[in-house]
Amino acid sequence: MKILFAASEIYPLIKTGGLADVAGALPIALRKKGHDIKLIMPAYQGMLKKVAPIQKTINLGNPFGVGDLLLLETAIPESNTPILLVQCQALYEREGGPYGDQQGQDFHDNHLRFAALSWVIAQLAINKQWLDWQPDILHLNDWQTGFAAAYLKSWSVAHPPIVTTVHNLRYNGSFDIDQFSDTQLSHELLSMHGMEFYGRFSALKAGLVYADAITTVSPTYAKEILTPEYGDGLDGTLRALQDKLVGILNGVDYDQWSPDKDTLIPHSYNIATRAEKYLNKQALLRENHLSEEMNFPVFGIVSRLTEQKGLDLVLEAMPALLEQGARLVVLGSGDKALETGFLALQDAYPSQVAVRIGYFEDYSHRIQAGIDSLLIPSRFEPCGLTQLYALKYGTLPLVRETGGLADTVFEGGDADNGFVFQEASSHAIKEAMLRCMACFYDQPRWEQKQINAMQTDHSWEAVTGQWEALYQRLL
Ligand code: ADP
Ligand code: GLC
Repeated sequence: MKILFAASEIYPLIKTGGLADVAGALPIALRKKGHDIKLIMPAYQGMLKKVAPIQKTINLGNPFGVGDLLLLETAIPESNTPILLVQCQALYEREGGPYGDQQGQDFHDNHLRFAALSWVIAQLAINKQWLDWQPDILHLNDWQTGFAAAYLKSWSVAHPPIVTTVHNLRYNGSFDIDQFSDTQLSHELLSMHGMEFYGRFSALKAGLVYADAITTVSPTYAKEILTPEYGDGLDGTLRALQDKLVGILNGVDYDQWSPDKDTLIPHSYNIATRAEKYLNKQALLRENHLSEEMNFPVFGIVSRLTEQKGLDLVLEAMPALLEQGARLVVLGSGDKALETGFLALQDAYPSQVAVRIGYFEDYSHRIQAGIDSLLIPSRFEPCGLTQLYALKYGTLPLVRETGGLADTVFEGGDADNGFVFQEASSHAIKEAMLRCMACFYDQPRWEQKQINAMQTDHSWEAVTGQWEALYQRLL
């Protein structure tokens, strides 16, 4: 099958969260099955230095009046995955991240930046002449590529089936209606059954209503988003589209995330040598100048610091645990209030709490290998990848029972591999952390959980069959 896989971030080229991990790994897994996949993403600042030499450049003209759009054909080094970059200096070559400036402010013209990307995606879906290649399936991811479905609708042309994957419904890519004409989409699409969204227009809603299939990244989240509590204003739309919605759990790239292959951690280990994990714990504590007493658990956080992740609950619950000797290692960035809160906790418990604000890929591996338990008390979690990484490292996840966390982490029963609580309250997380601490001192139980955790297979290979079946059904 020929598949055009569109995303706004792709590891290892650019990453702000799990979408990049997925876009960097699922296409590789599908390619291994013999499918002909091309990725497509904007040529953000510095991107050309990270890809293979450009094989072909095609000028697509200046449809938005902001400068020519160029399509660059290249590949991601190492995996050699074919990727198309959409180059336009005025839209993509900026300081900051893919969506906003260095202060974290969204770019004012994101509607146009991602409309242009989506326009190119839509053109590629129907025009064979540019690359002498036309996809059988168009796979869109999140709001940044949702306008592509709207262009295809707007142009009333025959096109390949569209799959839209929702990684996070909270980010719906909605914009002021005054900006709609910038997209050059037909005004006919601006209805309640189209891409209109509470008086605005939404790229994600376009991606949903004009798709042939909608997927989300875990079975539980696929059910949750049909309810007002988790639907973020789109639950009504999704209930109407329920027949084409399915949840397919994300996988893990175990070449990047396995304690026996990971070159970013100080001491490698596997399920048989798991006792040696303590060497990573010792190194992590030393690196952070924390108390090196091994007989207390170390909790960890690797996360975007946003309301979604429920980390304010950790701030409230943590002092009680610290008083009992626990330690905490935090890596994250985002909301200023949370950053300040964790830094204040570090000031109050300097030998027990280490906080690093920022984004550090290498350090995230050392944390996964070095801590005993990873905290993920999310208010909602479409899939969550960090708990899957933790499991492989014999690091027991402590999670709120929601979305993909509910599908992958279990307390008790045969699959017992972590700690789970239900209510989004500091009381509930504290109780779970106390259970975790008690288990830490019950060596046989802890080890059994570790074995269960490390044995779990969440490889992409295990789920590509579900993707192939879905694509096949649409053809
Ligand atoms: P989300 O996509 O909602 O942020 P996921 O758990 O799916 O959550 O994926 C998060 C990804 O981003 C993981 O690969 C995680 O290790 C990584 N990550 C999050 N915050 C940081 C950070 N501050 N530094 C390095 N990696 C981070
Ligand atoms: C989103 C979600 C996260 C998911 C990731 C990859 O960012 O917040 O739960 O794992 O996308 O699908």
